[in-house]
Amino acid sequence: MSSQRGLFKTSVMRKNVMAVTGLFIAFFLVIHLAGNLILIIPDSWFPIEFWGGVANQHDMYNAYSHFLVHFWPISIVAWLLYAAIIIHAFDALLITLRNRKANADDKYIKKDTSTSTWYSRNMGILGSIIGIFIVIHMGQFWLKYKVLGTEPDLYDLVVATFKQGWVIILYLIGIISLGFHLVHGVESAHRSLGVHQKPCIKVLKYIAMCFGIVMAVLYAIIPIIIYFK
Ligand code: HEM
Repeated sequence: MSSQRGLFKTSVMRKNVMAVTGLFIAFFLVIHLAGNLILIIPDSWFPIEFWGGVANQHDMYNAYSHFLVHFWPISIVAWLLYAAIIIHAFDALLITLRNRKANADDKYIKKDTSTSTWYSRNMGILGSIIGIFIVIHMGQFWLKYKVLGTEPDLYDLVVATFKQGWVIILYLIGIISLGFHLVHGVESAHRSLGVHQKPCIKVLKYIAMCFGIVMAVLYAIIPIIIYFK
């Protein structure tokens, strides 16, 4: 009995950790999106007097990236982000393995899936696709610019990368998976952290749906616009 209670406590704790790390990653994604939208803002939107000498998309994007890498408080947040991604993925793996074992134990009980969505049942698969995407994505930009320093002009690197058709397809797969993952993840994280009242859940579902769609659409248009420009 006490070991069962222990297991329950561990699984609740694991879900809470997933919720907090997931929401932190979602917050990063909003900031990351805002910065990368510079890539599709026309040059005419950068009046030289306003931005203090930064007069075009190219210089603005590089100035923004330079600031991110060289401002030490942001470096601390970046390390917290890497830790959050690793913890989130590790906990997700443990929860998936435990659920798989529980399902195998009662394989004769038919599961009712009529009230759940396909993406909520496949968060593990969506998460794995996003994980592969993040590894490739960080290899393309973060590793070359931030770690190795072999590509000092990040704007040129991003634009050259998004001129390749296979990259656009890879990004669309990653970003669409991310959109669905966010729709369920944002709702589920709030439930794990204690939002249970019916009217709140209704609003939450709506907000999570809008958030996932808006994030996916805005992220997706960046590589598409650069490819066709
Ligand atoms: C499609 C538009 C995107 C563009 C143009 C883009 C661009 C970049 C660039 C240039 C970097 C390296 C410089 C830096 O560290 O800030 C970077 C880092 C990163 N990106 Fe993206 N990204 C995009 C989408 C995404 C998505 C959808 C995710 C998550 C699923 C993501 C996750 C990350 C992470 C985790 C880092 C490392 C952050 C850090 O070190 O501070 N990015 N991205």
